[in-house]
Amino acid sequence: MADPTAGIESLGDLTGKRVLVRSDLNVPLDGTTIADDGRIRASVPTIRQLSEAGARVVVTAHLGRPKGEPDPAYSLEPVAARLSELLGRPVAFATDTVGASASETVAGLQDGDVALLENVRFNDGETSKDDEVRGAFADQLAQLADAFVSDGFGVVHRKQASVYDVALRLPSAMGGLVAAEVDVLRRLTEEPERPYVVVLGGSKVSDKLGVIDNLIDKADKLLIGGGMVFTFLKAQGHEVGKSLLEADQLDTCTRYLREAADRGVEIVLPTDVVVDTAFPSGDREPQPSVVPASEIPADALGLDIGPESAAAFAAALADARTVFWNGPMGVFETDAFAGGTRAVAEALTKVDGLSVVGGGDSAAAVRQLGFDEAAFGHISTGGGASLEFLEGKELPGIAVLERG
Ligand code: 3PG
Repeated sequence: MADPTAGIESLGDLTGKRVLVRSDLNVPLDGTTIADDGRIRASVPTIRQLSEAGARVVVTAHLGRPKGEPDPAYSLEPVAARLSELLGRPVAFATDTVGASASETVAGLQDGDVALLENVRFNDGETSKDDEVRGAFADQLAQLADAFVSDGFGVVHRKQASVYDVALRLPSAMGGLVAAEVDVLRRLTEEPERPYVVVLGGSKVSDKLGVIDNLIDKADKLLIGGGMVFTFLKAQGHEVGKSLLEADQLDTCTRYLREAADRGVEIVLPTDVVVDTAFPSGDREPQPSVVPASEIPADALGLDIGPESAAAFAAALADARTVFWNGPMGVFETDAFAGGTRAVAEALTKVDGLSVVGGGDSAAAVRQLGFDEAAFGHISTGGGASLEFLEGKELPGIAVLERG
């Protein structure tokens, strides 16, 4: 069998072959409007490469987390339209994944044509924990193709039929997007150039435990903002008012602070915070004010790091040679609370070395705040996947390709 990590070339001449591509097209939708098409754009080069190689390209992907049955709210149809615009060629849309529409659509493809199958998670076999159930669904998917290309980096941490089991059934290769992501993330874990600064934000400490555990002795500095910072501030003995707090993680945060001190890793927490008395909503104008991080009023909640902290974070990033950033510093969707996230993004664009924006919300933030994506070393398409990679976990969708 061809070497699956050697890229699409390893599959040989693809002219006239049906190639199933797993992409991650899980984009945020506002009704049927795509709020951020970053993942679709990132998926285009591999799809185009296959089309130009004369393959009959059958794209499979998920959107959201439907419950294993069709749900129009999670249809990929709007994504097919955007994919077609970006590719500059028609994309045939099958209204099911392995049913009559899929068979007809695939049978109707000419060399170089592209089709997108309806949301793969409309089938309960896709995410089943039962190997046999998943395998039976993977058999159906595999019947639609002669070869498989795994290019959905955002889902390689999922042991799901279209990510894992189908690769056991067809000649398989890693797509260029997955290969590029793996290459960059390896540079973060294997001998990163120093100083190595990690910036973590987002709402929950509990989502980041694995990555903190793994990076606490690899990074030189750990900058912490976002909703998760309030559990750290509380662990330091400060009152945090109505801010997000994970009381069950206080001991863990205390341990991180102690371990970092023991290992000479600098943990930088904000010294000031932008607060309001309510979470931003459409019903009321935000009333932001800046307070010291040690003096958050009882009736207020922290919604961003303050300007003094933003400047300190930027200064801490100024001489970094390697940076990994995951999670916004505040509620960046509301302008009044976007300053911290903007400052960190700005600082990353100036890094003389490798700067990596780790997927999910931080990638969306960079685009929504109007930054030029080219100013960053790498913007990952994987949120959970990039975190699990940095946690040192085995990713099933990669392992299955590397199994030899
Ligand atoms: C993501 O959004 O991180 C990926 O598309 C994976 O989605 P999932 O967390 O629903 O598996």
